[in-house]
Parts: sequence; structure tokens; C-alpha cells
Amino acid sequence: MEIERLPAVLFIVFFLSTHWASGSYPRAQNVTWKSTNFKTILTWEPKPSANYSYTVEFSAVGRDSERTPHCIRSSTTVCDLSSSLTDLNAYYTADVLSEPPMGASSDLTEFPYTSSPRFCPYKETNISSPDFKLVVSKDKKKTTLHVTDPLTALFKDGRQLNIRDIFSDQLQYKVTYRKNKSTGKKEHKSKISVIELTDLDQGVSYCFSVQAFIPSRSIDKQLGEMSQTQCSNDDNQSIFEMYSVGVIVGAIFFILLLIGIIIAIAVFCYRRRTAAQGSGKEVSRQVI
Ligand SMILES: *[C@@H]1O[C@H](CO)[C@@H](O)[C@H](O)[C@H]1NC(C)=O
Ligand SMILES: *[C@@H]1O[C@H](CO)[C@@H](O)[C@H](O)[C@H]1NC(C)=O
Ligand SMILES: *[C@@H]1O[C@H](CO)[C@@H](O)[C@H](O)[C@H]1NC(C)=O
Ligand SMILES: *[C@@H]1O[C@H](CO)[C@@H](O)[C@H](O)[C@H]1NC(C)=O
Repeated sequence: MEIERLPAVLFIVFFLSTHWASGSYPRAQNVTWKSTNFKTILTWEPKPSANYSYTVEFSAVGRDSERTPHCIRSSTTVCDLSSSLTDLNAYYTADVLSEPPMGASSDLTEFPYTSSPRFCPYKETNISSPDFKLVVSKDKKKTTLHVTDPLTALFKDGRQLNIRDIFSDQLQYKVTYRKNKSTGKKEHKSKISVIELTDLDQGVSYCFSVQAFIPSRSIDKQLGEMSQTQCSNDDNQSIFEMYSVGVIVGAIFFILLLIGIIIAIAVFCYRRRTAAQGSGKEVSRQVI
């Protein structure tokens, strides 16, 4: 071999050795964790062609890597790991390997792969917006928000766990509220799911929204998604709330009836008086 050609040959050998092994199957890209209420899904791109597939290997930091049957030689680009990440406080990483399709074999022993970022379910799963029921006491001194703790994707002994089951006393709710006709906002934090507000102006309409608040987390992950806003009624509307339509119709009917009776009595008395005066004249004439 001529000495001048050696660099070119070396280059070709180098090119083939690097591009055959990892060039055989495309590497996964954009490997991302998506997680809400402990429903945790690993996603990546691109969709595989018919001649390769993806396998996911995951491990808690410092432990053996595992696979889950539904994410082996799969042709999709998602892997649901909700029930596989059993240690909620651990940091997990996952590798997405590009492998031959299901049933096919390959001479290769090492497959190209891409690693995910680290992910800790307890510290990083997003919390969805809670539902709540708004109750104003009859005397209007107390407004109570009954918050329903959102359900998680986790089960224990056949029961679906909610976020209170997981976070227990680390879970708080943050209420943001304002007077309906004002933009000035106030906040109230509660450690329990039944939230009582007693320092509101009475008979005024307020608007409330609620979100989960986990102060033990890093600041950017403390707040859950905000609920829909609900407003209390002001006084004018609450008359209709306190008495049903039937009662109001009945009351109006009763008042009309009462007026009718009074008019009837008045007319009756008037007729009697004029009749009495008439007969009185006759009497006086007779006397004269
Ligand atoms: C996969 O199939 C495409 C066309 O279907 C082909 O161009 C490509 O070389 C194949 N790759 C492998 C690794 O077989
Ligand atoms: C949580 O929600 C935010 C905002 O929608 C999003 O940017 C982030 O990727 C989500 N995190 C996870 C782990 O799903
Ligand atoms: C990865 O994400 C980037 C930015 O969102 C995007 O431009 C790129 O197309 C994605 N890669 C694939 C393979 O889809
Ligand atoms: C509160 O404001 C909303 C609109 O912001 C309005 O639809 C609603 O009727 C108001 N409620 C009361 C009781 O004023």
C-alpha cells in the first residue's frame, strides 16, 4: 500500500467502524419524562421504521437496571413506567435502546441508546387541578371549600390512592381568592382538604381557585395545576337560593289572597255603612 493513501484508508476504516455499529439503527432523540399524579410516561422520537424497534431499560440510581415486558422490542415511542417506579423517592434514569424488530436477530451485541434525564416521582410528578365544592353558611359568616384530593395512577391492595395518601401532611392547598368585582387577590394556605375562611366580608360575592402546594419540593415544582374558578353568590341572589321557587310563588299567592280579603271586607263594611245611613234617613223621616 502506498504511504500517501494510508490516511484515506484509515479514515474509511474509522468511518465504517463508527457508523456501522451505531449507524445500523437510529438513536432515540428527545427522551423525556411526562408525569402527572404519578402517571409516568417516558417518550422519545422518532417513530421506528419496520426494521428496528425500541427497548427501555430503567434503574434507580445505584441499582440494577430492569426492563418491563411491554417496553421490549416495541414499535411505539412511549413507555408507561407508572407501576414500575416502585420507590417513589428514588431518582430514576432510563435508556432507550434501538434494537432489531421483535423476532429478528442481530449480530450486534451493543445497540445504540440514549439516556433520559434523572427523574424522581415524589419530587417531580405534576399535580393536576383539584375539584372543590363551595359552601357558604346560612349566616354567611363562614365560607368552606371542600377539596377532592386528585387520584393518582398508583394502587395499593386494590384501592386507587389519591395524592393525600402519598404526600400525607406534606400536601397543602393554596386558595387564591378575590372579591368578584375586584382584581386584588388574596391567598390562603391550608394543611387540610376542608378549608374554612372566616374573615371574608359578609354578603359579598367572592371568587376562589385552588391548587395543590407541596412546600417540601423545590420552588419551581411546589404548585399543582390551578383549579377552575368558582364564585359565591352575593345577597340579592341568595334569596332565591334560600327559598325555593315554590315557596316564593306560595308567598306571593298568599299575599294576593290577603289583599283580596282586605278589599272584600272593606267593600262589605262600606256597603253596610251606606245601607245603615240610608235606613237611618228613612227612620228619621218616619220620626218626622
Ligand atoms: C431499514 O429500512 C430502510 C428502508 O426500508 C433502509 O433504507 C435502511 O437501510 C434499513 N436499515 C437497516 C438497519 O436495515
Ligand atoms: C409538568 O408540567 C409542566 C408545565 O406544563 C411541564 O413543563 C413539565 O414538563 C411537566 N413535568 C412533567 C414531569 O411532566
Ligand atoms: C427533538 O426536539 C426538537 C426541539 O423540540 C425538534 O426540533 C426535533 O425535531 C426533535 N427530534 C425529533 C427526532 O423529532
Ligand atoms: C361574579 O362574576 C362573574 C363574572 O366575573 C359573573 O358571571 C357572576 O354572575 C358574578 N357573580 C355574582 C354573584 O356577582
